[in-house]
Amino acid sequence: MTATPAQRAQELRDLLHHHAHLYYVLDAPELPDAEYDKRFQELQALEAAHPELQTADSPTQRVIGAVLPGLTPVRHAVPMLSITTETDTTEGGAIAFDARVRRELGLTDADPPVDYNTELKFDGLAINLRYEAGVLVQAATRGDGETGEDVTHNVRTIGQIPLRLRGDAPQVLEVRGEVYMRRDAFEALNERQRAKGEKTFVNPRNTAAGAIRQLDSRQARDKPLSFYAYGIGEVRGWALPATQSGLLDALAAFGVPVNDLREVARGPAGLMAFHQRVAAARDALPFDIDGVVYKVDSREHQQRLGFKTREPRWAVAHKYPAQEQVTTLLAIDVQVGRTGKLTPVARLEPVFVGGTTVSNATLHNVFEMRRKGVRVGDKVVIRRAGDVIPEVVGRVPGERPAYVLNFHMPRHCPVCRSDVVREKGGIEYRCTGGVFCPAQRKQAILHFAGRRAMDIEGLGDKLVEQLVDAGIVQSLPGLYKLGVAKLAVLERMAEKSAQNLVDALEKSKTPTLARFLLSLGIRQVGETTAKDLARHFGTLDKLMNASVEQLLEVPDVGPIVAASVHTFFAQQHNVEVIEQLLAAGVAPRESEGEGDDRPRRLLGKTLVLTGTLPTLTRDEAQALIEAAGGKVSGSVSKKTSYVIAGEEAGSKLEKARTLGVPVLDEAGLQALLLAAG
Ligand code: IVH
Repeated sequence: MTATPAQRAQELRDLLHHHAHLYYVLDAPELPDAEYDKRFQELQALEAAHPELQTADSPTQRVIGAVLPGLTPVRHAVPMLSITTETDTTEGGAIAFDARVRRELGLTDADPPVDYNTELKFDGLAINLRYEAGVLVQAATRGDGETGEDVTHNVRTIGQIPLRLRGDAPQVLEVRGEVYMRRDAFEALNERQRAKGEKTFVNPRNTAAGAIRQLDSRQARDKPLSFYAYGIGEVRGWALPATQSGLLDALAAFGVPVNDLREVARGPAGLMAFHQRVAAARDALPFDIDGVVYKVDSREHQQRLGFKTREPRWAVAHKYPAQEQVTTLLAIDVQVGRTGKLTPVARLEPVFVGGTTVSNATLHNVFEMRRKGVRVGDKVVIRRAGDVIPEVVGRVPGERPAYVLNFHMPRHCPVCRSDVVREKGGIEYRCTGGVFCPAQRKQAILHFAGRRAMDIEGLGDKLVEQLVDAGIVQSLPGLYKLGVAKLAVLERMAEKSAQNLVDALEKSKTPTLARFLLSLGIRQVGETTAKDLARHFGTLDKLMNASVEQLLEVPDVGPIVAASVHTFFAQQHNVEVIEQLLAAGVAPRESEGEGDDRPRRLLGKTLVLTGTLPTLTRDEAQALIEAAGGKVSGSVSKKTSYVIAGEEAGSKLEKARTLGVPVLDEAGLQALLLAAG
C-alpha cells in the first residue's frame, strides 16, 4: 500500500527532524548530507503541491521568509527574571551565596551541605522559545522582562534550535536560554568584514543581539548563532523534574542544546571547585562566558527561597574578571612585521583585562582605525578574549581635544626609513627595506627560531632585539657564528644561558627539510605548504631548481604559491643566505619523497583536525598522520579526505557535513592509521 501525500509528508518531517537533531545537537550524523537534501527536497515538492500539508514545524520552514516591517511585542506568560550578581569575583563570592541560602532556608551547621546545579553564564542574550504540542510557535527576546519582541523568523535560522521537540512533548513548554555567537564564527565574520573593507563588529554578544533583532532573516542567517538552554517559562501538561539538574537533562532529552559543562556541586567547596575549574577552561571554550551561575538544585528548596522583586533568591551569577575594559589611548605606533607589513599599534594606559595587564593592542589597519574613529587621547574599549591578541574595538564617545591630528601611515619605514608602499587597491602598507630593515630582520630571526621552524630554544624577542641592535647578528647565518664569549657581553646574559643558547643552536642544525623551508620565511609558505614541498621534492636542491610548472605539480600548490616560491629562490641574496646556512653546518634532513608509499597509505590524503580528542593532542595526531604520509590542513574543503572530530568540534565539523566529507573520531583515526601502517 503506498502512502498518501499526508502520510509521506509526516514521515519525511519525522525523518528530517531526527537527522537534524543528530547533526546539530548531538554532533553525530548518520545520514549523508546528500541523502538529507534529497528528502528535504521531496518534502518541499510535496508541500508545494499540497500547501495544506505545510506545518509550522516543517524543516522547510527554516527557509528565509519576507522582511518584516518591525518587530512585534510579545507579552511573556511568565516574566523573564534576571539573577543577582555576586560582586566578589574571587571564590569568596561562592561562600557568601551558600551562607545566604543556608540562612534563608533556616539550616544549621548540623544540616548537610546544600546541592547546587552549577552552570556557565553564557554571554549572549536571553530568549524564550515557546513550544505548543512540541512545535516551536514563537521565539521572543527578554525585553524588559514583561514584554519582549517576536524574533521567531530569526530564531528559525538557528539550526541548533529544534522546530519540534523530540519525544513526548508537553502541551506547552517554554524553554529559556541564551542565544550566543561562537568565537570562531565571530572572528570569521570580522575577517570577512575586513576583507570587504566594511565595519567590524565589536564582540560576539553585541553581534548576536543585533542579528537576532534583524527584520530580514537573511541578515541573521549570515551571522551564525548558537543556543544553550538553562531554564523554563510557562509549562502546561508536564510534571516538572524535582531538580534543576534533572530539568536540564529533560530539556536535553527533548532535543534542546544544553551545555555539558555543568555539575551538581555540594556546598561551598563544590561551588568553589566549579568556579576554579571553569576559570581554567574559560580561554579554551569556543564561546564567551562572563561567569558561572549557581542554582539551588532542589525545586522544593527553590520554592521555599522564593523571589526578591525581580530576582530569585535561589540563584546567583558569579562573575569572572571582564574581557573588555576601557582605558586611554596614549599613542599610536607603527610596527613592522616579518614581511614588512605595517600595523598600527595602540599604546595604552595599562589595564587589566582577560587575565593579564595589557599595554599594547592592535588596531589592525588604518582603514579600520578610521572606521572606528579612534584618536590619541580617546577613551577606548580593549578586548582580550581567549588567546586572541588584544585589540582596540572602539572608542567611548566623549570630549577630545581639538588639536589632535588624524593618524596617517608613514611614507617611510619608522625603523629603516625605506619607502613604504601600499599595494594597489589593497589595505596593506609595506616597508620596502627587506632584510636591510632591522625590524624585518628581527622578525625573520624570530620566525626562523620558532618552535615549528628551527626550534631554537631560548632565542626569544628580547634577545633577538639585543642581538640585532648591538649589531652582533645581521642575518640568519650569523646566528651560527655566536659563541659564548660574544653572548656574554649582552645584558642579563649569564654564562650558563649563553652556553644553553649555543647548545640549542647546535641542536637545531639537522631540521627536517619541511622545518627548514618554513624557517626561511618564504611568503605564502606556511607549515602545510612547507611539508607539501618537502614531500614532493625530497631535497633542497631539487626544490631550489624547480620551475613554476614543476612547482604547480605539487598537490595543493596553486599559481600564487608557486610564483612566490620561485621568486624567492630566484633572488641571489636568498640563495646566499641558504648557502651560508649550509656552510655553517645546517643540514636539512632530506624527505623520503613519493616513491616510498608502500606503508604510507595516507599518502595524498588530507585530514582536518577539529575539537579536542580524548587522548591525543593535536600535535601528536598530526605527527601520526604525517608519519603515515598524510597531511593535515586547517580548513575543510571538498578535497578533504577525512575530518577527525573531538569534543567541542565546531564549524569545521559543520562544513564537513555540508560538503559530505567523512567524519571520524579518534578511534576512527587510529583504525585508519593501523590500516595505513
Ligand atoms: S538563569 C531565574 N542561567 O544571565 C533565573 N541565566 O540576569 C533566570 N544567563 O539575562 C536566569 N547564562 O540571559 C540563567 N546558565 C544561566 C545563564 C543565564 C546566562 C543570562 C540570562 C539572563 C542573565 C541573568
